Parts: sequence; C-alpha cells; structure tokens
Amino acid sequence: MELGSEFCREVAGRDPLGADAVLARLPELNAGGDVAALARELDALVAGGRPGRQVDVRDRLAVLRDLGMFLGSLRRHGVEPLDAVPGAGPVLLELGAAVGMVPRDTVLHYGVWNPAGPRRRMFTGAAEEGVLIDAVRVSAPAVERAALALAGLEGLKPDEPAFADGCEEAAARLAVLPEVAARVAGSVDPATFFMSRLRPYMEDVRVGDRRYFGPAAAHVPLYLVDHLLWSGDRPDPGHLLLQEELTGYGLPAWAALHRERAGRPTVATVLARAQAEAGPRPGADLRRTADAVAGLLRSLLAFRGRHLGLVRRAYTADAGYGTGSAGAAPETVRLVLELTRQRARQLRAPGGGAGEPTR
Ligand code: HEM
Repeated sequence: MELGSEFCREVAGRDPLGADAVLARLPELNAGGDVAALARELDALVAGGRPGRQVDVRDRLAVLRDLGMFLGSLRRHGVEPLDAVPGAGPVLLELGAAVGMVPRDTVLHYGVWNPAGPRRRMFTGAAEEGVLIDAVRVSAPAVERAALALAGLEGLKPDEPAFADGCEEAAARLAVLPEVAARVAGSVDPATFFMSRLRPYMEDVRVGDRRYFGPAAAHVPLYLVDHLLWSGDRPDPGHLLLQEELTGYGLPAWAALHRERAGRPTVATVLARAQAEAGPRPGADLRRTADAVAGLLRSLLAFRGRHLGLVRRAYTADAGYGTGSAGAAPETVRLVLELTRQRARQLRAPGGGAGEPTR
C-alpha cells in the first residue's frame, strides 16, 4: 500500500456496505445528538454481515472508514461505541489485522480515502471540516512521496546527480505543506471551529482490550521525513517517543521504514560530511543537494511555524483538552519546531553540521 493517487481514488470510490445514504445523513444525526439512531445505524451496518466478507484491501479500508465515522460520532455524544454496539468489535479487529493497521479509522481513512463531492464522509458537514479533510488529502501523499524520495538515497553519495535529484524531488513535494497550513489558518478558526465543533469527534475509543486514538493530522508521516532527513541519527528522547507513537497509526511500510533507518546517518549528516570533504569549491551536484536540503528544512520550518500558531489558538488554558487527538501534549509541537530549527541552524553554520551523530 502507498498513497498513490489511483489507489486512493479506488478506496474513496468504494462503498462496500452501501453506506452512502446513511453517511450523507450523519451531520444531521450528529447535530441532533441522536445517539440511539447512531447506534442503530452502526449496528445495522455490522449486523448486515457484509463487513466480514470483504477480501480486497480497498474494500476493507473503505469499511473501516465508514464504521469509523460512527465510532467518532458516538464518542462525541458521550457513548463508548462498542458498549453500544458490541458486534462491531470483532469486525474492527479482524479488518485492522487484515490491513496491518489499527482496528479503527485513521486520518488516512478520513483524509485520502474519503470521497470528494456529495459522497464525502463528514461529522459536521461544515465547510471548515472540508478544508481540514482537504488539507490531509493534499499533504499526506506529498509527505509520503517526499519521505520515499529521501529513503531512496540510501547507498548514494550527496555529490552524485541521483542524490541531488532525490533531494530536489523531496523538496518539491514538501513545498505544499506550508501552503496547506496557510490555507487552514485562513479558513478555519482553531478555537471556535476546530476545538469547539470538530475536536470532540476525534477522541480515542476502546476496541478489544485497548484504546485507539482518532483521526489526527499528526499521523501524516512527516515524522518519516524528519527521521530520514535530520533526526534519525541524533534523536531527542521526547521527539523519538512522539515519532514511535505516531508510526502506529500509519501504513505498515512506514513503521518498517522508521525502524530500519533508526540510527543510520541522515541525509543532513551525509551532506555535511560531503561538504566538509569538498571544501570551499563543492561541485554542481553537491550544491544542488545542499540547496534542496535547505529547501526541505525551510518547508518544515514554515509549516511548523504556521502550525504552532494554530495549536496555540486552539489549545488555550480553558479549551478543555490537555492533549491533541494523537495523544500528545500541544507542547510537543513547539519541541519539534525547536529541534528542527536547531538542526537547520547547525547545518547553516560553517562545518557545523558535520559533527558526529549521537547514535
Ligand atoms: C486547527 C488546526 C490544527 C490543530 C489545532 C492542530 C493541533 C495539533 C496538536 C495538538 C498536535 C500534537 C499531537 C496530537 O495531535 O496529539 C499536532 C501535531 C501535528 N499536526 Fe496538527 N493541528 C492542526 C492542523 C494540522 C494540519 C492541517 C496538518 C497537516 C496536514 C497537521 C499536521 C500535524 C503534524 C505532522 C503533527 C506532528 C508534529 C510535527 O510534525 O510537527 N496539523 N497538531
């Protein structure tokens, strides 16, 4: 599984439970807080027996997406979903195991595998919710492509054309991220819309014997870009813990890549070494690599600067939530920005980035 556009379009196009009609009414059911109807509809989808019959991964992902809309909705209205509809538990566990992901919906289901247009699955139906879904729809595949381009540099040297090409591709993909944050900042009020209206649908729910976080934009695999670009060989303990928690809610291949590359020299480290060796006259490809890496760090910093603004406006002292929907303290967002800033600063200092990594 990758977030290629054809695969995502196919999952989005599927409606294996025939749930289009009931999901079109979901914002209305939620607005009325109609818990009995929500439980009845979820029960009907599960009791129909169709969820367990899916064998194609696209259908399974679409089923998780659609059942998930009811999990978040019931939880929003104060009901633990599987207490209300116990029959959904085994189905979710089986589907999660079959696709190698958590046994519920994630931000990928809600973002990239959510259809556009009238079939779009929404909790509130508000225009701002659409903007947030689109933010994930646009950024998750771009971030994945950027990470895979960086992963493909393994075994190459920073002064080789293919290394420079890979970094340039990653930089071109990631450039969309600050734009996405700006679009969200321009059209979604973090306090009055996100925190008051949407955040309550993103709570954790119990499935089997543990709780699983809801769809959180933090599960977009930016942690992979960090890991491969600058953090994997000098991990800050708090940052590493956050990354490891986030990997649990992505594609299985992302978690495997994160594990495999832990402790290996990052792109920033090999670039800094190559620059130190090349001295004052680096070749054209090494300069291309350096420019692209600088571009990647600029995009990360621009995104994180804007994103921190959203977080601060949302998670105020009286907002009622101590953690984000991925379970992390809002403070960790500032930590990751600060660490990114530090590494970018080191890399800009003459010879500064070539220091030995910490592991
Ligand atoms: C109102 C808008 C938003 C708010 C209030 C917000 C809030 C948060 C919070 C509290 C965290 C900490 C982790 C957690 O959720 O538990 C977080 C992390 C994160 N969020 Fe958001 N977020 C918003 C929009 C977005 C958008 C649109 C994206 C990208 C599509 C995004 C991507 C991320 C990422 C990648 C992280 C992990 C930390 C990092 O890499 O810097 N967020 N966000």
